[in-house]
Amino acid sequence: MTDQETTTIRQIAVIGAGAMGAGIAQTAAAAGLSVTMLDVDNAAVSRGMQMIAGSLDRIVKKGTLTATDAEAVRSRVAGTTDFGAASAADMVIEAAFEDESVKCDLFRRLDAACQPGAILASNTSSISITVLAAATNRPERVIGMHFFNPVPVMHLVEIVRGARTSDATYALTESLAHSLSKTPIAVNDYPGFVSNRILMPMLNEAIFCLMEGVAARDAIDTVMKLGMAHPMGPLQLADFIGLDVCLSIMEVLHHGLGDDKYRPCPLLRQMVAAGKLGRKSGEGFYSYAQR
Ligand code: CAA
Repeated sequence: MTDQETTTIRQIAVIGAGAMGAGIAQTAAAAGLSVTMLDVDNAAVSRGMQMIAGSLDRIVKKGTLTATDAEAVRSRVAGTTDFGAASAADMVIEAAFEDESVKCDLFRRLDAACQPGAILASNTSSISITVLAAATNRPERVIGMHFFNPVPVMHLVEIVRGARTSDATYALTESLAHSLSKTPIAVNDYPGFVSNRILMPMLNEAIFCLMEGVAARDAIDTVMKLGMAHPMGPLQLADFIGLDVCLSIMEVLHHGLGDDKYRPCPLLRQMVAAGKLGRKSGEGFYSYAQR
């Protein structure tokens, strides 16, 4: 370990105020950390702050958090569009759009803006940590920290070691995950890691079943809910994750593993091309217009 290296994490910057970024910011603030949540425009930042407020209200209504404690959590998250605000962080967790060139560019900029000892983590669901690390001058301090939606509810964090991630960076990230009350699982840097290597082909196959008329939408979801005790059926879950995200992960698996068993279903491609992205666009396999 060099003496520049961060050894304690108190201040976190989260890049991206979407569902994942807001969930990570809320979870870190609930664990007592100071959080800066960044996005490119004020509308995105304020949507993220509203998501945090909505999720905290839900927890308060359930009776497991007081309104005063919820307000304290909210006050520990500062939303901003100023990229320079990331420079104060001991650790940055990037949760931006799932696109390799967008993320590589962000990692280059973060490397230039952040303290030399700061850890740069990505919440990517499938993009190579080794590739993101290579965009920086601190590959030993770049790591994957893959959370699951809804972040305040889901216990798992996949911790992804890139080819040059140091043991010290791994240990600090693992200890951060514990302090966020999550269960960290170590995985190596292969396309889709473990979670999406297994989950996405299952969702893709459900879409093939629909396209080929094996069964209707509700029947496919009911089979997996009642037969396999999944909380959501695969088509409902694909809508929840976002069909564009599902397609992009399938492309990473197909390209990265070079095996046609990972070819994205043509119906998935067609729906994404039509702008039917699931819950976030109001329509996917289900319609969300009235919700
Ligand atoms: N914030 C805070 N609490 C929330 C919440 C949120 N955003 N969303 C749900 N909850 C809480 C509810 O308050 C409720 O708490 P209690 O059980 O203590 O009352 C609990 O979660 C269950 O919520 P609901 O009763 O409203 O609804 P539900 O029983 O249908 O559960 C769900 C909702 C947790 C989303 C459940 O359907 C589920 O687990 N679905 C599967 C989610 C999943 O697989 N996520 C991973 C997706 S893959 C991914 O994220 C990574 C990737 O790379 C693609």
